[in-house]
Amino acid sequence: MKIIHTRQELAREIAAYKAAHQSIGFIPTMGALHEGHLTLMRQARQENEAVVCSIFVNPTQFNNPDDLKRYPRQPEKDAEAVSGICDIAFIPTVEEMYPETPEETYDFGDLEKVMEGPSRPGHFQGVAMVVSRLFEMVQPDRAYFGKKDYQQVAVIKRLVALKHYPIQIVPVEIVRASDGLALSSRNALLHPDKRQKAPFIYHTLQQAKALSSTHTLDEVEAFVKAEMAGDTDFELEYFQIADAESLQPIRNFEDAEHVVGCITVWLDGVRLIDNVEFK
Ligand code: PAJ
Repeated sequence: MKIIHTRQELAREIAAYKAAHQSIGFIPTMGALHEGHLTLMRQARQENEAVVCSIFVNPTQFNNPDDLKRYPRQPEKDAEAVSGICDIAFIPTVEEMYPETPEETYDFGDLEKVMEGPSRPGHFQGVAMVVSRLFEMVQPDRAYFGKKDYQQVAVIKRLVALKHYPIQIVPVEIVRASDGLALSSRNALLHPDKRQKAPFIYHTLQQAKALSSTHTLDEVEAFVKAEMAGDTDFELEYFQIADAESLQPIRNFEDAEHVVGCITVWLDGVRLIDNVEFK
């Protein structure tokens, strides 16, 4: 595996793959890699001739400077973890990614007006800034994104449509710890006793899914809110049941063909997200 830090070096390698007509699978990440990230990379390995990942803690998608400062960083360990899977790990500096202050904006319409949109103003604009740059540098045939960031997958699909990128977006199932907690780089920030309590989020979502066959959408939403309110360690930011394609809120389970429930909860000062597909 080659570790590459500059655009120029990356461009040379990509040109060689293109000249050899090799398909390229791409997995963008912010590092502090875990089995969730590695699962995306292994799937890319199976479906493409060349596999490129990026490791870059993207400052433009953090609306909270403390969150950016606290974000776990372990580049050497990450490079080691991906060395048996990827052909290239692209690890640029902030200056390399953003030689000038980025000014582009993207019209994601209503997609940006729900859930993570209002909760993290500017977040998806920052994600789009970095992902569009990376897509243009790597020119992948397929790019892999985890369903843990459900809304991000929808935003990236919209970005691909807006920019007419010839890239297939491949959504990948959520990878969980054995106790059910969705794997996240942020889990490392939880104190051990709080980490033990964290699977409560997933268990509540599972119960909500079970209830959805016999209860109304309002009742299911109320159940999740009450469960979270029942333990003061958890602070619910939102739980939203939505059309899985548009991510717009719905009022009845019958209102959409595919339905997802997305949750954001604070535990021990750490922001945790998860979701469940109802149908
Ligand atoms: P990051 O949080 O590092 O996640 C990189 C990719 O791994 C994302 O597609 C995310 O959904 C996926 N992922 C994370 N945890 C997962 C899990 N438990 N199961 C399945 N997939 C999981 O998402 C980002 O970085 C950034 O926003 C990025 C797209 C790299 C742009 O900066």
